[in-house]
Amino acid sequence: MNTSINEPQAVSNPVTRNAIFIVATIAQDSEHLETVRAWCEDVEGLVRSVGTRFPASGLSCVCGFGSDAWDRLFGQPRPMQLHPFKAIGSGERIAVSTPGDLLLHIRADEMDMCFELATQLISKLGDAVTVIDEVHGFRYFDQRAIIGFVDGTENPTGREAEDYTVIGDEDQTFAGGSYVLVQKYLHDMNAWNALTVEQQEKVIGRSKFANIELDEDVKPTNSHSALTTVEENGRELKIIRDNMPFGRPGMGEFGTYFVGYARTPSIIETMLENMFVGRPAGNYDRLLDFSRAVTGTLFFVPSVTLLESLASCKPVETESVQASPV
Ligand code: HEM
Repeated sequence: MNTSINEPQAVSNPVTRNAIFIVATIAQDSEHLETVRAWCEDVEGLVRSVGTRFPASGLSCVCGFGSDAWDRLFGQPRPMQLHPFKAIGSGERIAVSTPGDLLLHIRADEMDMCFELATQLISKLGDAVTVIDEVHGFRYFDQRAIIGFVDGTENPTGREAEDYTVIGDEDQTFAGGSYVLVQKYLHDMNAWNALTVEQQEKVIGRSKFANIELDEDVKPTNSHSALTTVEENGRELKIIRDNMPFGRPGMGEFGTYFVGYARTPSIIETMLENMFVGRPAGNYDRLLDFSRAVTGTLFFVPSVTLLESLASCKPVETESVQASPV
């Protein structure tokens, strides 16, 4: 893979103190689709303009496109593995699939930087988009999820991170890109807090204060870390997670915004299958007894190079074929 030609977006940037997640739908008419295509060329420039005002904040933005939106905006060719996310699980335990054409994942240590970039990016899109979900996430103490456990420890880093998240020769036209799945989870904190620390540790599979993985002989097979450990031919398959806590204590809302980047969506889907259906079926993730997914959407993240050139990738209009009289 030649990353000097296909520079990835800021997928594996370090965790920041704040983040804004925006999921939007895109209007269907040709004028608005053209607005979005033109916007693609401006994204990196806007990140630079805002970010240069305070370089230490580590401002970045990753933008991704949903499956249907890709066809409407850019047509062929399309990323090999891009498809609408199909809900996983059943009954009360379901990883729902919800609409979304465009994802913005904006990160910075300071919320004002995230806020300013979100404002600039959204105002350029104008009424070409309708924002259907916007979440402002924050870092909670020493990188803990709102349920009190350190989150992100087993993320791959450096070269390994790139190997696990950046598309290479398997889809050359889209090399340098990634897939990202986002899900918004709400937690039942009363039920969670009613557990003892030891019980919570068995749900996650790690110790709470020291963040050490439980020994295999005590870690339950239905713990979150057991079920999200996935192997293929003896090799562990990893993703990069950049989850952020969010919430409104006054409204009783306590959440985790899950963000998973991968080279292929199938790894994330396997993890979700293990969590929601179980491995084996029925042995589902205990964390789901306290957490409910209320959104779920898959996006393709083009390389920076491709993102800029998408401005001129209008789909070829197919003329309607007249049925010939018999
Ligand atoms: C591990 C929290 C959802 C994949 C963890 C850990 C925590 C955590 C605290 C242990 C430390 C670490 O990060 O390595 C949460 C919360 C979630 C959530 C609060 C939302 C309710 C998900 C989802 C996936 C996932 C939806 C995948 C689709 C993973 C993976 C690990 C992990 C791969 C590392 C497992 C290992 O190698 O030990 N998560 N997670 N998580 N989680 Fe989650």
